[in-house]
Amino acid sequence: MNPSRPFVYPDAHSPLACDGVGLDILAKRYGTPLYVYSAQQILYRLQLFTKAFQTVPHLVCYAVKANSSLAILKLLAEQGAGFDIVSGGELERVLRVSKEAAGRTVFSGVGKTAAEIDLALRSGIFMFNVESAGELDLLAARASRLRIRARVAMRVNPDVFAETHPYISTGLREHKFGIDIREARRVYLSAAKQKYLLPHGVSVHIGSQIRSADPFGAAAHRIAQLVLELRSDGLPIRAVDVGGGLGIEYHAGQSFDPKQKIHQYALALLQALRPLKDVQLLLEPGRFIVAQAGALLTRVLYRKKNGKKTFVITDAAMNDLIRPALYQAHHEILPVFPHKDARKRTVDVVGPVCETGDFFARDRKLQEVQPGDLLAILDAGAYGFSLSSNYNSRPRAAEVLVEDKKHRLIRRRETVEELMAAELP
Ligand code: LLP
Repeated sequence: MNPSRPFVYPDAHSPLACDGVGLDILAKRYGTPLYVYSAQQILYRLQLFTKAFQTVPHLVCYAVKANSSLAILKLLAEQGAGFDIVSGGELERVLRVSKEAAGRTVFSGVGKTAAEIDLALRSGIFMFNVESAGELDLLAARASRLRIRARVAMRVNPDVFAETHPYISTGLREHKFGIDIREARRVYLSAAKQKYLLPHGVSVHIGSQIRSADPFGAAAHRIAQLVLELRSDGLPIRAVDVGGGLGIEYHAGQSFDPKQKIHQYALALLQALRPLKDVQLLLEPGRFIVAQAGALLTRVLYRKKNGKKTFVITDAAMNDLIRPALYQAHHEILPVFPHKDARKRTVDVVGPVCETGDFFARDRKLQEVQPGDLLAILDAGAYGFSLSSNYNSRPRAAEVLVEDKKHRLIRRRETVEELMAAELP
């Protein structure tokens, strides 16, 4: 078995399976649209990080936003992973699966509220990644009011270009994220004057789905310089949080070896951080851990032709997986039952939502499919369910975890009653 590909056809005559469990069986048991995840793949990816950075003290803080399912958080917490959160809601999720994991949690985000800060202080999180001088003031006020000492890192904006989709690039001065690296020293010195703040780290995150190691190395290099300056100012900086962002390959044809990828990434980071002694490295991967561990399983409802185009209409839609609509993202689509001799057709795979942007693939060559057939949309484990919505009053999909050849529902399908439950007509 190839440990980096959980969704494969076991042999030429079998349906597509997740770690040996046929997706047809899962569709029959739980219905569609259905998110299916491989526990084994998630743990394998976590372990790749641990191994690649084993020569330095480090903590993997999984970025909860990529997939915040409680079952997945629990799986990771049990392995000792930490978490990167960006809201009080994400912190509540971490606390729900493990109270002690709060001590391995970093809090990022440009708009933390007083209530969220209080919750994080009371929960004893590891560190706040502060994104502005205003936030630092609020944190200082809340911490002294609660008499709880907070470790802080400034998230600096290193002005490094990361080649990725503009919506998910964050490390340039023109972006809303972080504190300008040229201003950072001043902000640290003001933090150091606060009784309840402990300047402990420096953090950076330059964007997401970055496939080259170079921008990570460039950002880490700038961070290392800053740490040296801060230490010379007398600040006890002990942690460097390099954020997340390591990309995967969404196109089937392009070879992708996660081990090799992490190796290059680790090399770039460790080389840049070499001048620093006595430092703990924090990593915030999201996509790299869960994307390829998940697929969205959907059933074909109709096939129709409009002019020259053929549309395959599925029961999943942009509300279930918005990445193609939002970022023009490519996701491979495989028929659950492959037919060696089936004709290939160029089709658009679309959902039932009333928007032209509701598509999973355009002008894609696929095996000819009929209503009732099952399709698997691959690499959907990250920013799939977590970005899903109830647009068009569609209940969100169910989720299933495959673990040791067994499968279990980790989130049941939402009902329309639940969608209306909070409303006051
Ligand atoms: N740390 C911080 C501070 C972040 O903002 C993010 C992602 C991560 C870590 C994790 O990045 P990752 O390792 O997953 O690339 N919805 C978009 C991606 C948005 C990423 C937002 N921040 C997508 O579907 O491509």
